[in-house]
Amino acid sequence: MPDSRHPAPLQAADRLIGFNPFRVMTVLERAKALERQGRSIIHLEVGEPDFVTAEPIVEAGRAALASGHTAYTPAAGLPQLREAIAGHYLAQHGLDIPEHRIFVTPGASGALSLLAQMLLNPGDAVLMTDPGYPCNRNYVRLAGAEPILVPVTARDNYQLTPDLLTQHATASCRSVWLASPSNPTGTVLDLPALQGIHAWCRSRGCHLLVDEIYHGLDYVGGLPSALQLGDDVLVVNSFSKYFGMTGWRLGWFVVPESLVGVSNILAQNLFIAASSVAQYAALRAFDGDTRDIFEARRREFAARRDYLTRVLRELGFVVPVSAQGAFYLYAGIEAFSDDSEQFCRILLEDFGVAATPGTDFGEFESRRHVRFAFTTGMGQLEQAAERLRAAVERGAFTA
Ligand SMILES: Cc1ncc(COP(=O)(O)O)c(C=O)c1O
Repeated sequence: MPDSRHPAPLQAADRLIGFNPFRVMTVLERAKALERQGRSIIHLEVGEPDFVTAEPIVEAGRAALASGHTAYTPAAGLPQLREAIAGHYLAQHGLDIPEHRIFVTPGASGALSLLAQMLLNPGDAVLMTDPGYPCNRNYVRLAGAEPILVPVTARDNYQLTPDLLTQHATASCRSVWLASPSNPTGTVLDLPALQGIHAWCRSRGCHLLVDEIYHGLDYVGGLPSALQLGDDVLVVNSFSKYFGMTGWRLGWFVVPESLVGVSNILAQNLFIAASSVAQYAALRAFDGDTRDIFEARRREFAARRDYLTRVLRELGFVVPVSAQGAFYLYAGIEAFSDDSEQFCRILLEDFGVAATPGTDFGEFESRRHVRFAFTTGMGQLEQAAERLRAAVERGAFTA
């Protein structure tokens, strides 16, 4: 009999057993706690640009509030924003994507969680890279499906290939999820590489979902969109990274024609609509003067990437490929430690540099890797370099 005076503590659902925390958030919380104690901390952990949102967007947000644009929008997003996103594909890639295939969401996170519910049946399997963006595994698990983590190395530019897919596919594979540029390695897929994976997916009857959240932030002179491959590809994107709007919580996805109806129903049910103020603000994100601001920031990220890659290599970290996009370096720490969590703990607690252990991104060689985000200014990066040098010279990680 349940005892009403001493009720048992509430338990979460069984399917959450084994869910891993997003460790970078734990590192961030600890770093903030140390800062509150007066410690100086350099943040190389969090995947968030240090620039505040560009002024034209902020101004458009203020104007939206002043005009009372605070009501729900259609579930699929403001028509004029969907039109602006379609215009973006035309301008950047020469692609004519009908607006009704574009859905505006609360961040790429909203898009990925919706798509997992939409695409996967219990028991299905999804192929993805290890290392890769950690939340994807959990979206897949929440849909009752199973992530298959495919170990990727510098040899394959830390990306999937048709050979790797064939090696790891099982009979229940339904979907391949990729990110280009990727988190945590910053590597990209060129058009032939995307085409090879797309052909593999078609031959196996699998969906191909490509996360393009870091598009715009590349250092290789532009990237193909997976939408160039055909109308059967699913693409996710966001205003968080290149457009510098993390806290506004705004993203989008593009689906094939056959999934438009169900996307609308899921968007209505899961979140009614994305933030209206954020959507009105984002209308300014594609204008020429705003893009100039983003391009200046991209050049700044490129300079930081060059600096940090050089410093890490000089200190003995293994960085076989520098970031081709995004703002991360995935560095091998084998010269110092075989425990990335302990390495990050010592680096934070004793030297005031916050970084993310490889164990956040998968299992494959994750104890021998650390992700450094160059989302902080050059002055801070120089200080981080000094602290790293001091740690390495003192043999702090081998003790
Ligand atoms: C690869 C990737 N996808 C999706 C997201 C989620 O982004 P948001 O929900 O802020 O758009 C992130 C955030 O870091 C990411 O790195």
